[in-house]
Amino acid sequence: MSKAMKSFKRRDFLNLSLGTTVAVLLSQCSRGSFRLTGSSSAANQAQFHSSEGGLLSLDLEAVAQQVKLGNRTANLLTYNGQMPGPQLEARPGDTVQIRFTNRLNQPTNLHYHGLHISPTGTGDNVFLDISPGESHTYEFQLPEDHPAGTFWYHPHYHGLVAEQLFAGLAGLFVVRGELDEIPELKAAQEIFLVLKDMALDRRGHIPRPGHMTEMTGRMGDLLLASGQINPELTIAQGGLLRLRLLNACPSRFLQLSLEDHPLFLIATDGGAIAAPIELNDLVLAPGERADVLVHGTQTPGQYRLLNRPFNPAQGMMGGGMMGRGGMMRGQPNQSRTETVATLTYSNTTSEISLPSQLLPVDPLPEPQTVRQFTLNHGMGMGMGRGMVFLINGQPFDHTRIDTQVTLNTVEDWEIINTGTMAHPFHVHVNKFQVISRNGQPAPYAAWKDVVSVSPGERVRIRMAFQDYTGKTVYHCHVLDHEDRGMMGVLDIRSA
Ligand code: C2O
Ligand code: CU
Ligand code: CU
Repeated sequence: MSKAMKSFKRRDFLNLSLGTTVAVLLSQCSRGSFRLTGSSSAANQAQFHSSEGGLLSLDLEAVAQQVKLGNRTANLLTYNGQMPGPQLEARPGDTVQIRFTNRLNQPTNLHYHGLHISPTGTGDNVFLDISPGESHTYEFQLPEDHPAGTFWYHPHYHGLVAEQLFAGLAGLFVVRGELDEIPELKAAQEIFLVLKDMALDRRGHIPRPGHMTEMTGRMGDLLLASGQINPELTIAQGGLLRLRLLNACPSRFLQLSLEDHPLFLIATDGGAIAAPIELNDLVLAPGERADVLVHGTQTPGQYRLLNRPFNPAQGMMGGGMMGRGGMMRGQPNQSRTETVATLTYSNTTSEISLPSQLLPVDPLPEPQTVRQFTLNHGMGMGMGRGMVFLINGQPFDHTRIDTQVTLNTVEDWEIINTGTMAHPFHVHVNKFQVISRNGQPAPYAAWKDVVSVSPGERVRIRMAFQDYTGKTVYHCHVLDHEDRGMMGVLDIRSA
């Protein structure tokens, strides 16, 4: 996110409470009347599972379900009938047991995006094929030193990931910990916003993606904040609102800003940064998360959280290689600014200041190995196969090991984008720090698991392989690109 954060806006949101199959307002003109009151509201409780006595245990079902979106009925894929899925919360050291059943008519599985857990067996095993009607119990333990942060779960069955996520399969996995104990953050109101786009035809079905989206990935014209359209968020005068944002769109970059309020970044994908950073806007690539604080110091009133069009073919750091609109033939119309949520000042007052310090982000040792990963695309071989997306010239093959690394070593990876659109590069199991972009040092240290790489850019990331051996993956988080080949197998072996 550093790139994203650096100069753009965030999009954002609101809180999320989605009731189960509950009313989400879809029509553009109606504002949700939900009061977002943070994770303690009744609406949130309904779909909220927290660990107790060191154990988070639940049944989770992937199931096609009709969900009310405002005045429309949408035919979606859901976890336990909810979109987004239930919010899960655990603490470092907890054991997690998820008895998962596939009630879809196609294979699926679960991935725990950003969690530092084993990639094998009953852990974060993305090579599993859970057939329709089958069940699998995921069971793993969060390490005692797992950072607090905003993580999430979604399907990871290669070839169907974009389709299943777009149809509604995604939920938050929150790890509570040290960051949450900082007094100002404890006092802040907290709202989670799962930002996800959606497209529906007149009958409430998700249309098949057209040819035009082969390059860009599927996108929808509805932008939901935790399953709601333009929900209302409240802030106390003088108070702090902690917005916890996830870009759960399969392909869309978000560029968020809040009218008349800066956003103070406090955490990225992998947890806290050292001190708040003031942003006028925030770019979130697909898969990225950000925690930001809003300070209620403006004249009481209503302020819109906006998503401005963001062109992923353009360099993100100012200017870009092709200029606005240059390469984006076939891009769905993303030219309008959307209201994601509306912030309203309540009658209550509060006096909370911004925290000055958060948590240290320790630098990683110098790398033992440096590797290059070149991202590009081409035309598929077979007839009518369309675009394929490649890493180092090859499409994904689960039987091939692309990158073998050694446990307890540090590596730098240079991600080089020689194509024409941005690719948010994501690595499973271990988080990383962005070191530089085109040789320019990253402006601040942050833990990331997704980093967007613009056309023509070379981004260097640094990663330590810790605690877990086994096979896992790295890939582009524009999930249509991943499904069309932009993924590689990473094998972590003990020395
Ligand atoms: Cu959120 Cu492998 O992805
Ligand atoms: Cu992931
Ligand atoms: Cu991509």
